[in-house]
Amino acid sequence: MKTYRIATIPGDGIGKEVVPAGQRVLEAIAARSDAFGFEFESFDWGGDYYREHGVMMPADGLDALRDKDAILFGSAGDPHIPDHVTLWGLRLKICQGFDQYANVRPTRILPGIDAPLKRCTPQDLDWVIVRENSEGEYAGVGGRAHQGHPIEVATDVSMMTRAGVERILRFAFRLAQSRPRKLLTVITKSNAQRHAMVMWDEIALQISKEFPDVHWDKELVDAATARMVNRPATLDTIVATNLHADILSDLAAALAGSLGIAPTANLDPERRYPSMFEPIHGSAFDIMGKGLANPVGTFWSAVMMLDHLGEHDAARRLMAAIERVTADASLHTGDLGGNATTVQVTDAVCALLASPANVATAQAA
Ligand code: IPM
Ligand code: MG
Repeated sequence: MKTYRIATIPGDGIGKEVVPAGQRVLEAIAARSDAFGFEFESFDWGGDYYREHGVMMPADGLDALRDKDAILFGSAGDPHIPDHVTLWGLRLKICQGFDQYANVRPTRILPGIDAPLKRCTPQDLDWVIVRENSEGEYAGVGGRAHQGHPIEVATDVSMMTRAGVERILRFAFRLAQSRPRKLLTVITKSNAQRHAMVMWDEIALQISKEFPDVHWDKELVDAATARMVNRPATLDTIVATNLHADILSDLAAALAGSLGIAPTANLDPERRYPSMFEPIHGSAFDIMGKGLANPVGTFWSAVMMLDHLGEHDAARRLMAAIERVTADASLHTGDLGGNATTVQVTDAVCALLASPANVATAQAA
């Protein structure tokens, strides 16, 4: 029997509620498997750790994670600590430290979810956004000088490397190729950003030659927002820079019904380091500690984790249980207009995982 070693990092806010919920469903799925189990280790890094130690995670924190098979992450963000401190001190430290350069964000309208687009059926909206996750606008290049003086200056330089752009575009073409429609849209802004984004376009053309069976087109990021709303069915796999994809993926999640549902995988495709899985939502201070957070984004992230570990059957079973639960409006949390609690949704998914009928359904699918 294989034992996967999983690090859990709940982080801040509702991360402390949804990550334990995610661990519970993973334990429920392992309980029915003779083939694999999990060994979890939880790390208490985040805002509270910062208040005590002055850092979001210890200096040797990456070493504690290095030999894990995967990381399940909640969120980083604290009302009393500047956002750039929480982000750079924890999440980006892990993503960049482990070179998790491909951030994958699938979007679908799950059964029972009321999505805001009137003319859109669930079949019209089945996207996966690939976000460059290691450089670009999040490279951290820049600085401030003359602070507090009238001549103060500040820069954030978007830094793109040929190697970084080639590997993310190649990853996106490969992912598009693996999906039935073999359709890729490369997001750009090379009309205004006339250096790095022009190189990005050139590299897209170059990499496309390696994938003659993938249909691809280019779309400016601003036009892409309108296309996502007006012509969702023309999109399938989408690749964009770090910041562009950050923005588009929030729009995608909202169009699919709620930010509370959307999952993410921060992948090191070469598997030199553990990959990290997390819901796309943040720490949601307004509802934290109340047991109202939607755990579905974490559960779907756990599906992505199972797929990454090669446990495709278990991934299918968990996704089938999630979809059975979203289909039932009495199990919708507040973000979906319902009254269900985190624990009720988690109990329902665990109960389905324990029932042999659900296993049969997933195998038939
Ligand atoms: C995301 C989030 C983060 C980001 C925030 C929390 C800094 O919005 O994962 O999309 O911008 O990367
Ligand atoms: Mg975001």
